[in-house]
Amino acid sequence: MDRIVVRPSGPLAGAVRVSGAKNSALKLMAACLLAEGRSVLRNVPRIVDVRIMGELLGVMGLRVDALEPGGAELAISTPADLVPEAPLELVQKMRASIVVLGPLLARTGAARVGLPGGDDFGPRPIDMHLRGLEAMGATFELRGGYVTGRAPGGLHGADIAFEFPSVGATENVCMAAVLARGTTVIDNAAREPEIVDLCTFLVSLGARIEGIGTPRLVVHGVTPADLRPAEHTVVPDRVEAATYLAAVGLTGGRVTVVDARAGHMEMLLRKLTDMGMAVDPCPGGITAEHHGRLRAVDISTLPYPGVATDYKPLLTAMLSLADGSSIVTENLFAGRFRYVEELLRMGAHIRTDAHHAVIRGVERLSGAPVRAHDIRAGAALVVAGLVAEGETVISEARHLDRGYEDLVGKLRALGADITRA
Ligand code: EPU
Repeated sequence: MDRIVVRPSGPLAGAVRVSGAKNSALKLMAACLLAEGRSVLRNVPRIVDVRIMGELLGVMGLRVDALEPGGAELAISTPADLVPEAPLELVQKMRASIVVLGPLLARTGAARVGLPGGDDFGPRPIDMHLRGLEAMGATFELRGGYVTGRAPGGLHGADIAFEFPSVGATENVCMAAVLARGTTVIDNAAREPEIVDLCTFLVSLGARIEGIGTPRLVVHGVTPADLRPAEHTVVPDRVEAATYLAAVGLTGGRVTVVDARAGHMEMLLRKLTDMGMAVDPCPGGITAEHHGRLRAVDISTLPYPGVATDYKPLLTAMLSLADGSSIVTENLFAGRFRYVEELLRMGAHIRTDAHHAVIRGVERLSGAPVRAHDIRAGAALVVAGLVAEGETVISEARHLDRGYEDLVGKLRALGADITRA
C-alpha cells in the first residue's frame, strides 16, 4: 500500500474537514511531559507521526490512551518520575522528537536525546535549541549519535534572542522556561499558529506566558507544583487546508474546507487570490472556487505570517500550470526543491538555482511514476496528478501517512479519481 494512483479528476465539489495540525499536536504531546497527571488532547490527527510521538512518550514512562477508536482524542498520563531518554531509532523516524529536550531538562535536570540527522530537504541543525537552553544553565555533550543535556541545579531564566525565528527552538526554549527559576525573554520568537496553540496549552497547564503570538515571549517560571493537567483541542491544520485549496485551484470547482482558519493563512489566501481563485472565509471554514487557468505569481517563503515553506510544493505544482512565469524563492530550507525533479517528469518547466525556482507555466502535465520524498512533496504530486493526463503513480506514499489523515479518502469524497494501491 505504498503507492497512490491519481487520474485526471473533473471539478472538485463538496465539503472536506481538516484535521488537527500535525505540527501542533506533536508539540502539545511533548508539553505533557511538564505536568504530572492526565491531560486530554482533542482533534488529534490520526497520523503516523502522532503514533511515533506516543511511542516516544511511552519510553519516557507516560501512558497514551486513545479515548475513541482511531484516537482523535488522546489521554496522556504523566508520572512523577520520567525516564529522560529519547532513543535514536524513534528520533530518526521523526525529527520533531527533538522538542522533548526542553521539557525533559526542565522536569528532570537531564535529558539524553537521539540527534536527528538531515532529511530530504537539507541539513536540519539544532544549534539554536542548544544555545537557548545553554543560556538557561544547561550543558550539552554530543556523543554516539546522542545529545546529552544536564542542568543539575535546574534551569534559570535568561534573555534569549534568536538569530532566526526557529519554530522548534522557540518551542523547546519556551517549554523549558515554564519550569525555570525566574523569567525568560525570547526575542525573535517564532509565532506560527501552532506555537500560539502550544503556548495556550502551556498556560492552561499553569504556565505564565506573556506576548503569545508576538515575536517576544516572556515566560515567568513556575514550580512543578503549580502545574496541573489540562484539556485542549488541537488547532486545525493550515497545511492540510492549503492542500484542498491547491487541489481546487488546479481542478476547478467549488469546495468548502471546513474548520480551515482564514486568519491563519492570510498571506496564502492573498496569493491564491492573485492567482485568480476565489477564496472566502465562510462560517466554520473557507470556501474556494476556481474556473479556468491560474495566473502566474512570484512567491517567497518566510516565517509566519509570511507564506509558509510547507505550502511551497503545493504552490509550485499550481504555478507549473499557470499562465505565465513565476519565481518561487525558498528562504527557510535551502535544499527544499527535490520534488521539482518529480514535477519535471510530469512535464513541468521549472529551473532551480540555489534557493530560487523559475517556473514557466505549461498547458498540461502528463501522469508519470513519481516519488514522494517527504510529506509536502507527496501532497504536491497528488494535486498535480489530479490534472495530469493519464495516470500518476506516486511511490513512497508512506510519507503522506506521516502528516495527512486519509488524504486519499478525503479527496475522493470531493470527486477526485485517486486510490491507494
Ligand atoms: N535552524 C537552524 N538551527 C536551529 C534550528 C533551525 O539553523 O537550531 C534553521 C533550519 O535549518 C531551517 C530554519 O532554521 O533552515 C527553520 O527551521 P525551524 O526550526 O523553524 O523548523 P522546524 O522546527 O525544524 C517546523 C516544522 C516544519 C516547517 C518548519 C518551518 C514541525 C515538526 N516541523 O520545523 O514542518 O517546515 O517548522 O515552518 O513543526 C512538515 O510539517 O512537513 C515540516 C517540515
